[in-house]
Amino acid sequence: MKKVAVLISGRGSNLGSLIAAQEGSYKIILVISNNADAAGLERAAAAGIATLIVPHAGKTRDSFDGELDAALRAAGAEIVVLAGFMRILSDGFVRGWEGKLVNIHPSLLPAYKGIKVHERVIEARETLSGASVHFVVPELDAGPVIAQARVPVHPSDTPDALAARVLGVEHQLYPEALTLLAKGKVRLEKGLAVFTDTP
Ligand code: GRF
Repeated sequence: MKKVAVLISGRGSNLGSLIAAQEGSYKIILVISNNADAAGLERAAAAGIATLIVPHAGKTRDSFDGELDAALRAAGAEIVVLAGFMRILSDGFVRGWEGKLVNIHPSLLPAYKGIKVHERVIEARETLSGASVHFVVPELDAGPVIAQARVPVHPSDTPDALAARVLGVEHQLYPEALTLLAKGKVRLEKGLAVFTDTP
């Protein structure tokens, strides 16, 4: 069973879905938030998972990332999962966890990297959107995709309505993608997501 740490900044609904699906191939051993008020911390505590608050205010990126790294190593984390973690991680941190660091993004990457995704998808009159789980590389939202799920975009959608529809598929997608990684069925190799043993 792979030891997983989850980094959050807020609500933590993806954390909730990862908690619900654990114990098959991975176990969440630590949840870290940069925000003391993150609702996800309560979900973790309710599930009996250790939590840690690492505030970012007043720190350089390197010292904040150094604290995160030390806490993750001390806990024995083998995989680090970003789930609504709203800080950009330094290149050094990302390289240190290469192939073991994943994120979920609410678009069909490489389309719509960055923030305000749903607003931009609606503005562009897309008919399809979705979510992507990807390996994290130093460039923002640019890492190789492990898994994606699609949802329709309706002409009447507001950003909130579309966000809710995408979130619904995120909750299925993230545990599935993490399970693939924890079982060694996908790995990062020369900048590509390489799959083994898939049907
Ligand atoms: C999700 O939409 C995820 O794709 C994005 O941030 C949001 C986090 O939501 N990276 P939650 O905190 O997991 O509820």
